[in-house]
Amino acid sequence: MKIELFVTPAEFTEGDTRSEPVIVIDVLRAMSTMIQALANGCRDIIPVDSVERALALHTSLFETDILLCGEREGMKIYGFDLGNSPLEYTPDAVAGKSLIFTSTNGSAALIKVRKSKHIYLCSFFNVTAIAHTISGKSENLVILCAGQDNHFALEDALCAGMLISRIRTHSKKEHELNDAALSALQLISIYGNNINAILKQTDHGRELIRIGMENDIYFCAQVDAIPVIPVLIDGKIIKMPV
Ligand code: MLT
Repeated sequence: MKIELFVTPAEFTEGDTRSEPVIVIDVLRAMSTMIQALANGCRDIIPVDSVERALALHTSLFETDILLCGEREGMKIYGFDLGNSPLEYTPDAVAGKSLIFTSTNGSAALIKVRKSKHIYLCSFFNVTAIAHTISGKSENLVILCAGQDNHFALEDALCAGMLISRIRTHSKKEHELNDAALSALQLISIYGNNINAILKQTDHGRELIRIGMENDIYFCAQVDAIPVIPVLIDGKIIKMPV
């Protein structure tokens, strides 16, 4: 089994199609927020890569119960219903609703690989559930970190390292790892016993603290708190049908 980790979406081109399962990670905060939304009863989520596309899609869909969601520079977009804090995505806010969601890095990463056959969303919330779901499904895996403006983001690499470690334990198989995957395993062995403390020290963590969203860091640092498996199928994110 070969596991390839990409620490930013820069190595992918728009519409890149992978035959192996692709797991997209964005700990702070897009994947964590979407996992929380699905856990709290939202029907589905349509990721889009620009505010303009989100608004146009919203106007073109004549259905009720569709919320406009997302962030730019970490803050809720003017005129949108919800921002990108997972704490906003309560059952009261999202149950039974469809979401149109745009975030700077997370939804952009999903759009890049959206033509791949099997796409899963991952954060610390569901890392073990994803590892168990994925193990044994395919000989090869691709893990893509959303990163930060096409730069390395430590929080995503740590989650990738934890995921790879869980997959190895669960599948009891030898894995061929690329250099990034090997490095992520090392990183999680160094930082893995205090995720919250290290998330606060990351570039993104410090930015969230600066804009008054430190509570999101504590929330997103919870390992295995929300064992939901979100999949992107035909442009929509839903809970994996069982
Ligand atoms: C992103 O997708 O860029 C992030 O989720 C940004 C954020 O924390 O709001």
